[in-house]
Amino acid sequence: MSSKIIGRPMDRVDGKLKVTGKAQYAAEYNPPGMAYAVIVQSTVPRGTVLRMQTSEAERAPGVLAVLTPRNTPKLPGADKFSAVPVLPRLTAMQDSEVLYNGQPIALVVADTFERATYAASRVRTTYVEKAASLKLEAGLERSEPALGNFGMPPPGHTRGDAAAALAAAPVRVEASYRTPTEHHNPMEPHASIAVWDDPEHLTLYDSNQGVFFMRQFLSLLFGLPPDNVRVISRYVGGGFGCKALPWPHQIMSIMAAKVVGRPVKLVLTRQQMFSLVGYRPQTLQKVELGASAQGKLTAIRHTGYSETSELDAFTEPFVNVSNMLYACPNVATSQRVVRLSASTPTFMRAPGEAPGTFAFESAMDELAHALKRDPLELRRLNHADKDPEHGKPWSSKSLLECYRWCAERFGWQRRSLQPRSMRDGDALIGWGMATATFPAFRMQASALARVMADGTAVVQCGAADLGTGAYTVFTQLAAETLGMSPEKVRMEMGDTVLPPGGLAGGSSTTATASPAIRSASNEVRRKLVQLAVADKESPLHGLAEKDIVVEDGRLSSSQDTARGETFAQLLTRQKLTHVEGKGDAAPDPAEQKFSSHAFGSHFVEVRVDEALGTVRVSRIVTAMGAGRILNPKTARSQIQGGVIFGLGMALTEETLRDPRLGRVMTADFAEYHVPVHADVPDIDVHFVEEHDPHVNPLGIKGIGEIGTTGIAAAVANAVFHATGKRVRELPITLDKLL
Ligand code: MOS
Repeated sequence: MSSKIIGRPMDRVDGKLKVTGKAQYAAEYNPPGMAYAVIVQSTVPRGTVLRMQTSEAERAPGVLAVLTPRNTPKLPGADKFSAVPVLPRLTAMQDSEVLYNGQPIALVVADTFERATYAASRVRTTYVEKAASLKLEAGLERSEPALGNFGMPPPGHTRGDAAAALAAAPVRVEASYRTPTEHHNPMEPHASIAVWDDPEHLTLYDSNQGVFFMRQFLSLLFGLPPDNVRVISRYVGGGFGCKALPWPHQIMSIMAAKVVGRPVKLVLTRQQMFSLVGYRPQTLQKVELGASAQGKLTAIRHTGYSETSELDAFTEPFVNVSNMLYACPNVATSQRVVRLSASTPTFMRAPGEAPGTFAFESAMDELAHALKRDPLELRRLNHADKDPEHGKPWSSKSLLECYRWCAERFGWQRRSLQPRSMRDGDALIGWGMATATFPAFRMQASALARVMADGTAVVQCGAADLGTGAYTVFTQLAAETLGMSPEKVRMEMGDTVLPPGGLAGGSSTTATASPAIRSASNEVRRKLVQLAVADKESPLHGLAEKDIVVEDGRLSSSQDTARGETFAQLLTRQKLTHVEGKGDAAPDPAEQKFSSHAFGSHFVEVRVDEALGTVRVSRIVTAMGAGRILNPKTARSQIQGGVIFGLGMALTEETLRDPRLGRVMTADFAEYHVPVHADVPDIDVHFVEEHDPHVNPLGIKGIGEIGTTGIAAAVANAVFHATGKRVRELPITLDKLL
């Protein structure tokens, strides 16, 4: 594919709409007659609702309804989900059981948000309390084997004989690591507005990562044909995984709209986002590595636990990386889950890989230290030339080039091997590195492209742009394929009236939708060429199709570009309003012959104040081999965002629950610390040019999540190099360094 527009660092096509407030987010729709709902949450971690006094709330001004377990309509399709892992999260007042502190137990609907909020504060609840399980460590004995989420295989892998190889290894390290509960905290809170157009037709304005996925769920749950449900999510202010699956608030807004016979808006507060829409579960991990005296890995054992709720068996698959990241003949990994009286965890940016790379890439650094070897050299020595887990060739892999580029850019050869050996005034200086990885997926998608008689084009695909640049890269791809200027192409996404797009999960959006958009656009271009050469009045009449060039909305002869006409001239003369093409794309089984992952590396410098224990990250150099990069500007910003996400994981982010009540104590930005600008140094991002002919037709790998992998380990490794102190428990706060 020639690339005049693809690969260019084009500005975001939705940037102006966003900075001028014209991009409409879910909470910004105001259908006529709309009422407002506010959720009442449980105040005990475990028990049964014995009695709810709602009369005061019902009598409060403007109140339209108070829904409780007693009067909430039963969900017609609830039983369809009991067998599906991850989905039985329907704590939408279907019974009186309280399984965690903060569970929705009532919903108040009023004519204004303020009145609903006031009335919600007047609901009085009496519980029969039961013993709650609140501590991961206390639940290890009753842990259960981890299942795979959504029918994915359970995490865990065995090859060779890890126990024997560990026993025989001349060099061994063994360490336990801990990662805390973390919350996604997208800038835009979750919001739903439910509109029953008639008793059989539902429209939901919602903030989510996939409108078709949401529609499928809601149509099953409410017993409606999918075509009777429309889900609209045009702009999303960040997702990171917490907007992938449905949560109680969507269901509750829909039920409430039915009960009051009006559209109902339900927007979560920042505080509610800490108990109603998932989180990354805390993990306890143990890593054992065996190596030859030269540093070749001979054994990997990686095991551990993650928390889940009483409702669900969600697994954070942290051992996945240990199975495939380095060449090693003997590997044994497995995981278990512990049910706690907590809300249900979910996918969070690089689920599995983020906490998994922290433990595993920290352990690799510990091994390098035990061997007195350079950590980068150790990784090069153990580079996996093919996928060691499945024995397949990689579709492409540029990890060695990532290492090389980062090491040179960073100046790694000036690093001293000894911890505590680099200093600048009061600051101990540390240099650390780690490998990043994330699998490349794609799903099914369809697209429609239409060139209009006025010379503009509309391209549609019901995929999601979480704010990452999908509108922009799809506009570039369509414009280039159609032979038009991107300014003339309008991309439409995030609505179930459009052709089905995939779920923005697993960093797959671009790989999923691009082949469909390209094939729809190609069809339109072909039709335009055919129309022109067949038209006696066209200057191109009679030419062979292959002799027509299409550029900037104009068809011309490749021999004589002055001979030609614009799309608009052609369509107007033909009295056509538009020409359209459709495209469908799905994973090709041939792609399964290869293992497809993006790989990268992070090199980090920290400055640790010896007296205060404070850690400042002063430099980050990151390289990624992530397939074709459609737009280096939006891609760079996505990797930077991923790195910043990882910095929060490394240094500041931690959700704490009250040890007696199980209530989240850090439920706002004063207590839950995401990195601010002052915490983030310049992040130098480089993409290694990578042409992958096997991963998918356009050679695209995802970049949404990989930036977050490895970064916490790179920081921890740098902190060790600075201080000689190994912190195995995130976040690396100053108390752990004093
Ligand atoms: Mo992403 S955590 O796969 O939604």
